Amino acid sequence: MTKTLTIRRPDDWHLHLRDGDMLRAVLPHTSRDFARAIIMPNLVPPVVTGDDARAYRDRIMAALPADHDFTPLMTLYLTENTDPDDVAAAHADGLIAAVKLYPAGATTNSASGVTDFTRVAPVLERMAQIGLPLCTHGEVTDPEIDIFDREAVFIDRVLDPMRRNHPGLRVVMEHITTSNAVDYVKAHDTGLAATITTHHLVINRNHILAGGIRPHYYCLPVAKRETHRLALRAAATSGDPRFFLGTDSAPHTDANKLLPCGCAGCFTAPNTLPILAEVFEQENALDRLEGFTSLNGPAFYGLPANDATLTLVRETPEIPAQIDTPEGPVTVFDPGMPLNWTV
Ligand code: NCD
Ligand code: ZN
Repeated sequence: MTKTLTIRRPDDWHLHLRDGDMLRAVLPHTSRDFARAIIMPNLVPPVVTGDDARAYRDRIMAALPADHDFTPLMTLYLTENTDPDDVAAAHADGLIAAVKLYPAGATTNSASGVTDFTRVAPVLERMAQIGLPLCTHGEVTDPEIDIFDREAVFIDRVLDPMRRNHPGLRVVMEHITTSNAVDYVKAHDTGLAATITTHHLVINRNHILAGGIRPHYYCLPVAKRETHRLALRAAATSGDPRFFLGTDSAPHTDANKLLPCGCAGCFTAPNTLPILAEVFEQENALDRLEGFTSLNGPAFYGLPANDATLTLVRETPEIPAQIDTPEGPVTVFDPGMPLNWTV
């Protein structure tokens, strides 16, 4: 039986770090294990301009423990007023690695997102020219569409038309939750990739709703039925380079999760690697873990893989049920299964 597993240091291609006290509390849980992460811009107010991204990057670096080696890859929040020149300048400066599309109202702090896609066409055109990827929160917000169908409808109504209108645009379908998304990625092989979260490999919608409501499993896009989870596991462990890790680790205090209308998000930064090792081992694919966590993402983003390595050993990890923050405790995602690998 394999006792240790050494892989190139992973990157997280979708991460929420927040700001202020919460940033200082959660960042070390990522920067301990990950070399880089794509930083989501959904602060209040959002990170919209190159100047906003520079200031946020500086706050992240100031919060980084002195002995951690971590590079935040910044993103801009696409609005209907985004200036293509500002985006291009931030990209040319090496400041941003992507632009993030939130359909208006889709998720936490997405009120400034896009409603009318014709208004962002000039930005998307420029991004296609300069090779800057668009990260998409792939859910429609139409209240008539059932929440479990919002990703599949987004692909048909928004993503596919947008990609046809901007053929050179590089797109990451983020935190995919359906076999529809897996199939769409597989059917279109240029300039298209998808991230998969840790928790969507582990839970289906029964975990949220059957036998009592479990707010800590509620995130967006919401977990779907078991067939979809199995499709995600197959894609993640397949070795197909178009699928890679984006944890979507999204900390909210317990006070904000455990409400009549609680926040969406699972906090997976502290235990993502032990959980992934478990999932890949269950699928007899431990040899493909490195591709998913450390190779496929950099290849898509045109960056070198990390030179440093990380070793997992077969030992039961000690993972706290919660972390303390000045804003209150944040519950760590419970995978509901024993973990056997420790970083
Ligand atoms: C994210 C958050 O809390 O910022 N929540 C989530 O459920 N994933 C927003 C997002 O990525 O949708
Ligand atoms: Zn997210």
